[in-house]
Amino acid sequence: MLFPLVRDIRSLSPENQDVTVRGWVRTKREMKNLIFVEVNDGSSLSGIQCVFDREKDGGGNDGAAGNTAETLAALGTGAAVEIRGRLVPSPAAGQDAEVAVSGITVPGSAPAESYPLQKKHHSLEFLRERAHLRARTNTFGAVARVRSGLAFAVHRFFRERGFQYMHTPIITSNDAEGAGSMFRVTTLDPLASAKPESGYGGDFFGRAAYLTVSGQLEAETYACALSRVYTFGPAFRAENSNTVRHLAEFWMIEPEMAFASLEDDMDLAEDFLKSLFTAALQDCAEDIAFFDKHFSGGDGRGNGAGKGIAETLEAAATSKFVRMTYTEAVRELEKSAGSFEYRPCWGRDLQSEHEKFLTEKIAGGPVIVTSYPREIKAFYMKMNDDEKTVRAMDVLVPRLGEIIGGSQREDDLQKLSRRMEELGMKKDSYWWYLDLRRYGSVPHSGFGLGFERLIQYVTGMINIRDVIPYPRAAGQAEF
Ligand code: 4AD
Ligand code: MG
Repeated sequence: MLFPLVRDIRSLSPENQDVTVRGWVRTKREMKNLIFVEVNDGSSLSGIQCVFDREKDGGGNDGAAGNTAETLAALGTGAAVEIRGRLVPSPAAGQDAEVAVSGITVPGSAPAESYPLQKKHHSLEFLRERAHLRARTNTFGAVARVRSGLAFAVHRFFRERGFQYMHTPIITSNDAEGAGSMFRVTTLDPLASAKPESGYGGDFFGRAAYLTVSGQLEAETYACALSRVYTFGPAFRAENSNTVRHLAEFWMIEPEMAFASLEDDMDLAEDFLKSLFTAALQDCAEDIAFFDKHFSGGDGRGNGAGKGIAETLEAAATSKFVRMTYTEAVRELEKSAGSFEYRPCWGRDLQSEHEKFLTEKIAGGPVIVTSYPREIKAFYMKMNDDEKTVRAMDVLVPRLGEIIGGSQREDDLQKLSRRMEELGMKKDSYWWYLDLRRYGSVPHSGFGLGFERLIQYVTGMINIRDVIPYPRAAGQAEF
């Protein structure tokens, strides 16, 4: 049987029940004969207060003689404890119940001289260097619970709508985005003398292999068999962009639907995000209230969206996302060209400052931008009749910019082949992808949501390195 967690104990009514609290000490305060120990096991933001009364102690733990003084000395911040006692009504404000302690065991102490998390408020930068311990703080415990809660909400959303969850390969030989920023996977020793004449023949897969940048192409094949599928897995990109929105390893959710247009895709993306915002507010209420109070959309230096996290999520979950074409977006941006570092210009990709402007200044909420120039988008997107733009859609949100990228896929064999040739792609290695357009081809669409960007938006955390347990970025792969 699993023992009750602190969140379970906190939900009991304090009617003198016997309980055992297992967790880690956050703080210890002494007042005359009373010792107050705040214990948290990470099951919720709130811990539970345990009160030890020296006067009532019979000289030992649970009556066992002798070890009280030793045990109390080991009860520092960070120590692992098992505390037995009675759940009683608490006289203190802000909590209904506390534990009147009868016995304490300390399976693992945490010496105060060396335990890094002594102070109550450490900077996020300090904690990033100690990523193996940071989940023991309020902030990172809350991030971890919101991640877990929203991962569950992702599966629930798709399950309710007939999407099958599929696993796409992590090792692949194709570049799904055609962007070239891939990590090589090889068993060859780069330090051993290279034998270029043997090519990839001597390597494990007998061909060039990489870590996947996206599961989309494989998801398309299953969508054209199961109608609606989605993936939820890691993606790897060797972009050397050292920004607060990019990781080298991130998690992406990619739904793919057969018999679906770009409009269907946008509707799904909007419903999906709204349901996740609602899930955050409902399923992670205590943690969201914490972020609302401490991280409300600012950069920590007073430059923020102004509104609180909860209010922002509530508004985004209930109002219609603004939709505009890329051409309309550029026209809007050109009106304020002076306020940008990069001049907005038709044909160039939107910079993050442009995306922020569209969402924060023009729309005051999420925006879906459609019909981008084909030159700045991936090879697989369906061409519009103007032959200049493609059926792409990006969902942009305030503070972050792009959170979702998606499109209707080119389902015409000739058009897709021609596009791949124009881009100089090796068509041979995509023979199976082209087969989808040979046999039972059908309009189909999908998108990718960056899970860490979602968590950034929902928690208000500024740096993407703070919403994944162990961030990987250029020059950073510790832990
Ligand atoms: O726009 P992207 O590159 O689209 C795709 O990968 C398509 N195959 C998706 C599809 O249609 N099935 O990436 C999708 C999303 C972005 O909007 C962003 O949220 C996230 O993935 N993303 C990253 N997140 C963190 N670090 C990075 N380096 C990211 N690159 C993309
Ligand atoms: Mg994109």
